[in-house]
Amino acid sequence: MERFAPKKDVTTRLQTTFEVELAQSGKTLKVSEDMSILEAVGNAGVSVMTSCEEGICGTCETTVLSGEIDHRDSVLNDQERAAGSTMMICVSRANGDRLVLDL
Ligand code: FES
Repeated sequence: MERFAPKKDVTTRLQTTFEVELAQSGKTLKVSEDMSILEAVGNAGVSVMTSCEEGICGTCETTVLSGEIDHRDSVLNDQERAAGSTMMICVSRANGDRLVLDL
């Protein structure tokens, strides 16, 4: 299946500030409400492959080690979302105070 547009409902969802721990890099970042995890990770000097940056291509898929995810992408199916083991860090966010990523 190919998708060509980001989901529309995500732009109306509340943006909150949360913390992201990068397990491999040993860094903990604050992700403010006006930035994506991808931006915060890039600002910390950690490189992640990206393409669309709209949650539709899957290039930035990142393994999640712990934390509840607010999935905002159009890539993962319901089962993958429920598993909570990966996320698209260009658009998806935390559904809580903290996420731990395998970066
Ligand atoms: S860069 Fe395309 S889904 Fe994140």
